[in-house]
Amino acid sequence: MDHFQEVYARAKEWTREAGRNLRDSLGQQLHVDYKTSEADLVTEKDREIEQFFIDKIKNAYPHHRIIGEEGMSAEAESDPMDEIVWLIDPIDGTTSFVHQRENFAISVAVYENGQPKIGVIYDPIKDELFHALHGQGAYLNETKLKPLSDTPVKHSLIGINSLWLVPNDYCDHTKFHPLIQDLRGTRIIGSAALEMAAVACGRLNGFICLRLSPWDYAAGLVILKEVEAVTTSIDGSPVRMFEASSIFTGNRTLHEEILTNYLRAGAGL
Ligand code: IPD
Ligand code: CA
Ligand code: CA
Ligand code: CA
Repeated sequence: MDHFQEVYARAKEWTREAGRNLRDSLGQQLHVDYKTSEADLVTEKDREIEQFFIDKIKNAYPHHRIIGEEGMSAEAESDPMDEIVWLIDPIDGTTSFVHQRENFAISVAVYENGQPKIGVIYDPIKDELFHALHGQGAYLNETKLKPLSDTPVKHSLIGINSLWLVPNDYCDHTKFHPLIQDLRGTRIIGSAALEMAAVACGRLNGFICLRLSPWDYAAGLVILKEVEAVTTSIDGSPVRMFEASSIFTGNRTLHEEILTNYLRAGAGL
């Protein structure tokens, strides 16, 4: 078996196992800590799931590097562009996990020398596993996802967080107002990984988010590429892998229309 075929099979198996753990824990009392603010939560489950992946990966692939949101792998600094790297978000949507007990996911990606190889996003509540091996199509459980259909703004539903529609330090929020008025509607799940997966399976036509970290978007990028989504940062430039970035993704027509008529119109973001 090709190396990445085997890694792909393991990544899916481990992600489902971790998802069962999260699902089984839902009745338990959670211990919630704050990170940078009272809106930035972490639980013992975030750390436990990240450690679960670290143990599995280190045992099976001792030479692979691991980058996880909770920073538990304690590895020496090296250049991720020269290695096989796992990017792990043990719970994407911790706020939803704590408040809603749904609308969260596990996001796992593998990149080789900066190139996308594997993306796995699992919603354990819906038992939906979105997954892709580069060049072999993207799947929702066993069903192959079709290339995205083109939609104009006026027929599109996009994911965008209300945070970016009010004054903030990252963008000119007024840029989005004409777009919001012209769209068919907006939705937010509260997990960037699930929002990218929603675009990949057509539940959303596009998604815009600022200030994401590599573990938030890495798996989504692999899956979206397989369904021919166009994904860039908010100004239309390529996403710089392993760096904090905005993410703007959607079908080709929608991406082009939003970029030209809204985001690039008038003053810069
Ligand atoms: C967050 C979620 C959220 C997005 C934030 C992320 P976390 O990830 O993806 O939807 O708006 O920017 O940090 O902290 O729950 O893993
Ligand atoms: Ca977090
Ligand atoms: Ca995240
Ligand atoms: Ca997280």
